[in-house]
Amino acid sequence: MQQLSGRTAVITGAAGGIGLAMTERFIAAGMSVVMADIEEESLVREATRLESEGASVTGVLTDVRDAAAIEALRDQALSVHGSVHLVCNNAGVAPGGPMAATTPADWRWAVDVNILGVAHGVTTFAPLFLEQGSGHIVNTASEAGLVTNPALGLYCATKHAVVGLSEALWRETHPQGVGVSVLCPNLVDTKIFESERNRTDGAEIAPVAAATMAPLREMIGLVGIPPSTVADRVHDAVVNDEFWVLTHEVTAPAAGRRFDDITASRNPTDPYEGLLG
Ligand SMILES: NC(=O)c1ccc[n+]([C@@H]2O[C@H](COP(=O)([O-])OP(=O)(O)OC[C@H]3O[C@@H](n4cnc5c(N)ncnc54)[C@H](O)[C@@H]3O)[C@@H](O)[C@H]2O)c1
Repeated sequence: MQQLSGRTAVITGAAGGIGLAMTERFIAAGMSVVMADIEEESLVREATRLESEGASVTGVLTDVRDAAAIEALRDQALSVHGSVHLVCNNAGVAPGGPMAATTPADWRWAVDVNILGVAHGVTTFAPLFLEQGSGHIVNTASEAGLVTNPALGLYCATKHAVVGLSEALWRETHPQGVGVSVLCPNLVDTKIFESERNRTDGAEIAPVAAATMAPLREMIGLVGIPPSTVADRVHDAVVNDEFWVLTHEVTAPAAGRRFDDITASRNPTDPYEGLLG
């Protein structure tokens, strides 16, 4: 989608991290942005700041787990801005811990936000874009949607689903003029490993899960790339009509290793062996 200026984007998980960086990048490209998030305080703060800087933004308190809320988000975006040409289904959470220690409540939460949150964005906006014959859908998956990591198995499962649904969506909608991109970053310096802050089921975090998250939280601040770098890649992917949005050099070779295992019909090897300096 070459023309962004004057058009409207809807971005979920827009109150912080990658979603906020995408909001700022698409504002810089001349777009109006409807910012959706479950975190009211940061949503209001960031939307107010961007508005005071001259941007055309609307903040809408939204829980992506709720299909009706996403439909209301679309309706509000259309009534305020007239049309929508870009949706970034980006809100996500990252529970950690070994699979054997995960609980049904962990699965419910992660599947609802990471898979159904994206699916609701697709079922709400894909028909609109198909009807208007133009538009672009960006789904945030992860490098964890292309390879698998111990202690992040539940997260990997949800992100593999996002890659799969995005690829199928591309096959169906691209011939009809609707673009799709899937964002698959390795570590980005955000609060993703503090996502229990947005958990509403009151579930206790298992000690073993908390223990696996602590080093990840430390590592993300040390080696995570800036969200603005990711937002620049997403912008370019939308403009250049690219499906795969990879942000780290390690991602394609690591994913390749996994497919080498499949091709050779051998048990899973370490996809990162020899790749991480
Ligand atoms: N940071 C990384 O290293 C990394 C790597 C790969 C993929 N991702 C993905 O990027 C996306 C954005 O995460 P981030 O890294 O910016 O983390 P973040 O925690 O900084 O931002 C996530 C945003 O999603 C919002 N959110 C959570 N649950 C929600 C819900 N039910 N409804 C609406 N909004 C909700 C949060 O309030 C927050 O603003 C996620 O899908 C995440 O899985 C992140």
